[in-house]
Amino acid sequence: MRRGAANACPAAFLCKRDEEDTQMGKVVVVDHPLVQHKLSLMRDKRCGTKDFRQLLEEIGMLMAYEVTRELPLREIEIETPVAKCKTHVLAGKKLGVVPILRAGLGMVNGVTNLVPAAKVGHIGLYRDPETHLPVEYYCKLPPDVNERELLVLDPMLATGGSSIAAIDILKKHGCNSIKLVCLVGCPEGVEALQKAHPDVDLYIAAIDDHLNEHKYIVPGLGDAGDRLFGTK
Ligand code: PRP
Ligand code: URA
Repeated sequence: MRRGAANACPAAFLCKRDEEDTQMGKVVVVDHPLVQHKLSLMRDKRCGTKDFRQLLEEIGMLMAYEVTRELPLREIEIETPVAKCKTHVLAGKKLGVVPILRAGLGMVNGVTNLVPAAKVGHIGLYRDPETHLPVEYYCKLPPDVNERELLVLDPMLATGGSSIAAIDILKKHGCNSIKLVCLVGCPEGVEALQKAHPDVDLYIAAIDDHLNEHKYIVPGLGDAGDRLFGTK
């Protein structure tokens, strides 16, 4: 784990895993004060749909800033109004953004505000209320998705089933450069993700304590999709 952990993050658990198995994708807890502040506002049950939507978009942008920190650069030469100079622009693969419907949609604008040229694919999954397993209902991806570096967006990493299924779908389309960007997770979800997709790095704002009997994250923030769209 690269950054300081916040909230109820079981840091020892994660650090231990990273030390034991260097093949695991990294887990980056984005502990920037603005992210933590905005997440706290979202967690509050009094936070209404309008504020929840705005905060999720803002955190999406802040997370994108962190996720893109290591993008490769190449040197170019340009002429400013004053002098010629060598400077840097982005190199490497083009970016793609893949929100998991519905709640991942709330992070898209924040990311594309920073990376306007990114193409956007959509994967629709819902958790079966009885089994809590993901059910796929939609998939539309850019034709060159396998040539892009992908950011999969979903605010919640609970059992991990939905994120794992979305990444399974992307890998079936030939994608091999994938990062998962979430807001709130739990040890169960992180472990499941690392087991299923050890090549995928996880960027997350908080790793909470546990899952309850309904497979909701505790303390979490409730049902992200319903809070985002006002459907409950
Ligand atoms: C939520 C959330 C994740 C998933 C996380 O979606 O947005 O996609 O649950 O749970 P998991 O890690 O156990 O799979 P939900 O199925 O409620 O659909 P929605 O976004 O349409 O509300
Ligand atoms: N999905 C959510 O939206 N919240 C949870 O806590 C778990 C799954």
